[in-house]
Amino acid sequence: MDIHGLKNTAQRLMADDKGLLAMDESLGTCNKRFEALGIPQTEEYRRKYRQLIVTTPQLEESISGAILFDETVYQKTEDGVSFLSLLEHKGIIAGIKVDQGAVPLAAFPDEKITEGLDGLRQRLESYYALGIRFAKWRAVIKIDEGIPTKACIKANALTLARYATLCQETGLVPIVEPEVLMDGNHTLERCAEVTQDVLKEVFNELYEQRVCLEGMILKPNMVVPGLNCNVQQKAEDIAEATISCFLKVIPAAVGGVAFLSGGQSYELASERLNMMHLRFGQVMPWPLTFSFSRAIQQPALDIWKGEDQNIAAAQKMLAYRASCNSAARRAEYSQ
Ligand code: 13P
Repeated sequence: MDIHGLKNTAQRLMADDKGLLAMDESLGTCNKRFEALGIPQTEEYRRKYRQLIVTTPQLEESISGAILFDETVYQKTEDGVSFLSLLEHKGIIAGIKVDQGAVPLAAFPDEKITEGLDGLRQRLESYYALGIRFAKWRAVIKIDEGIPTKACIKANALTLARYATLCQETGLVPIVEPEVLMDGNHTLERCAEVTQDVLKEVFNELYEQRVCLEGMILKPNMVVPGLNCNVQQKAEDIAEATISCFLKVIPAAVGGVAFLSGGQSYELASERLNMMHLRFGQVMPWPLTFSFSRAIQQPALDIWKGEDQNIAAAQKMLAYRASCNSAARRAEYSQ
């Protein structure tokens, strides 16, 4: 295992005040977001949209790495330039989503397990050969009456750890993403309890499977109340709950922590990240940044709507939201 190379990639991804752009929506998710805005759900429109993103001026000032979906890896601009070479030219490291989605966990109603380990070693080797240097795998954990079960947490944690070791063997930095969903009416305290249990189990398994912590990045949820909970705390409380949970369970050696946005509004996601740096910047042992999809892209997608004449304005918005999150990493974000 090339530990030096892995650490180097992780450090570049977490460098300065930059963060990651998740643009790896699966076909289903991307089409759903297009459908909501009346954008045709075709490969060509997905290509156009991803071209808009990778050609955005100044994106590289706030973004160190972009997570792609398999389809995007092989796509090109209208002028025939591959998206991978455009990203390389901007100094943005290309990453790839390698899980194959979450399916029902047998015998555990309403819980899920993420698939994609079969044949993963070969897929990772092919991506590495194309110049891709990091990967992502997302596990989903739902909070409700009696769930998540210990069995679901354990199964997902082991799968994440097996994926992470395979990535490191191939020279790719694994982004380990155990997402505790915001859906539901659970409280902030319940989210804190579940997130802590999940992260504890994930790090147990990462350790057992001999994952080099310095050469990986954790992509967690923020500790927040459920979307339908009638008590919605302020940014200060969210920052405090999130960082105090993380300090208990995320080892200091981890290469970095990069949040998913998970359905928060883009303003709240930036405000909460900002508050964590403002209040706890001095005590966090790991670099803390963003790896947002919706909280960076959604306002730009709303402007684009599939129309060529909106591309420049959409790109401006995309670069602006990325820069807001970069400012939040410096504790300098204001709306
Ligand atoms: P959101 O920021 O939209 O939650 O997406 C992050 C991600 O990559 C989910 O896997």
